[in-house]
Amino acid sequence: MIDTENKFKAVVSHAKEYGFVFASSEIYDGLGAVYDYGPNGVELKKNIKAYWWKSMVQLHQNIVGLDAAILMHPKTWKASGHIDAFNDPLIDNKDSKKRYRADVLVEEYAEKRRQKAQKEIDKAKKRYGAAFNEQEFVTTNKRVLRYYQEADTAIQRLTSALESDDLKGVKDLIVELGIKCSVSGSANWTDVKQFNLMFKTQLGADAETAMDLYLRPETAQGIFVNFSNVQNTSRMKIPFGIAQIGKAFRNEIVARQFVFRQREFEQMEMQFFVRPGEELKWFEYWKKERESWHRSLGFKTEDYRFHPHDKLAHYANAATDIEFNFPFGFKELEGIHSRTDFDLSAHERLSGKKLQFFDPETKERYTPYVIETSVGMDRMFLAVFSKALEEEQLDDGKTRTVLKLPAILAPTKIAVFPLVKRDGLPEIAQEIVEDLKWDYQVLYDDKDTVGRRYRRQDAVGTPFCVTVDYESKTEESVTVRYRDSMEQKRIKIAELKTLLHQELDFRNWVERK
Ligand code: GAP
Repeated sequence: MIDTENKFKAVVSHAKEYGFVFASSEIYDGLGAVYDYGPNGVELKKNIKAYWWKSMVQLHQNIVGLDAAILMHPKTWKASGHIDAFNDPLIDNKDSKKRYRADVLVEEYAEKRRQKAQKEIDKAKKRYGAAFNEQEFVTTNKRVLRYYQEADTAIQRLTSALESDDLKGVKDLIVELGIKCSVSGSANWTDVKQFNLMFKTQLGADAETAMDLYLRPETAQGIFVNFSNVQNTSRMKIPFGIAQIGKAFRNEIVARQFVFRQREFEQMEMQFFVRPGEELKWFEYWKKERESWHRSLGFKTEDYRFHPHDKLAHYANAATDIEFNFPFGFKELEGIHSRTDFDLSAHERLSGKKLQFFDPETKERYTPYVIETSVGMDRMFLAVFSKALEEEQLDDGKTRTVLKLPAILAPTKIAVFPLVKRDGLPEIAQEIVEDLKWDYQVLYDDKDTVGRRYRRQDAVGTPFCVTVDYESKTEESVTVRYRDSMEQKRIKIAELKTLLHQELDFRNWVERK
């Protein structure tokens, strides 16, 4: 068993050792919070994206796709509010010189208070056993009440200071709460400053005429500025959605937590355009849809939770996060936002072009409201990868490291081994590979003992291994070994495709869950 403390380290080192994730430009000592995906990583990533795309676009007749450019006209970011408001409040510790996000310091303080309350509840649960009444305990125990109140007050004060742009108030709060730097242990803080997260670049070589551009910090704006192009050409009627997968860039201050918080990352976003006044109904609809999408991957219910926003972004009238239990605790995996008509109206004002919908039935023309679902591809990768990684104690006293990835996302679907490298067995194994490779990512391996080959495939998450032995020559059958149960079954070579179809077909997978 990998304990929680070591889990994150195990995830990072396993990802590197087995070709999933490398630090970017590692030979030059890497680049902070930028990562490259290796041969297994790129397959897993591709499968996550395909699973999202099929679920959102292919299964919904009223959602279409888009692939907008990363570089956009700079007015885009004025309209969207990113130039004026896409800031993080940062604070430095004068002794360690370490930089923090001021809001995150307060949020972590509040989370620690809640954890303390939870510890009291767990202790009482143990003490009183079946007679324990949690509801009563939580509402009457003085210590639990105090911890929750401290957490709530801290968040409320942070929210109101940020909403009124009171940076001094944020610093005062940090000092009052006694928050200390984790490196120096001191509370010797600078003032809080706002820091814009967009990366700047330039279009054109001539200094006089060059235009300042930004690398997009979210893919959403590419969808908004194309609203009319897409609506007119695809003849979509409201309600309808536009989906997009693409890179986004943010100059993050706190660059930690591996691929969780990067400066270059990918988003899978969908903007769903609805009639004004109906947005909260659709907000609830998409909360449920997205929750069930995550659950369809087979992780435990208790690994997810909703976290409604205390502080709404400048464009939203409702927002929630789907949080996932990462190795470092519950953190945001996906955001679901009711963005009102903020973006379309702002682009209309700045561009002078109409971004409206004309309803041919009611003859009404209006600016639609928008529900957004936005999930970080890299965070999905980390969620799936970290939950799947297990160290298992086997009956013979040995341990195995196994990546129990949902089979539909596994980089390699099937590995084919000849038992020995002679007597025609490699040829039969190669024939199977040649036949299956058209539909699945297949791997041939004839090195080492079969046991070792199983271990190698367990470590990269291959759900099925097939061994060709002497019986294969006479009976045209093979052994299939299942990664999770390690169970082995004898089946005919001709039945392999049916088995893989049952286990890996998108429809079978979704309908089974
Ligand atoms: N268009 C809305 C938007 O961009 P967001 O909450 O800032 O909202 C959406 O980002 C999702 O993008 C997050 O839930 C997260 O999964 C992912 N994300 C955001 N910043 C990230 C970063 N620095 N590294 C990796 N993923 C990130």
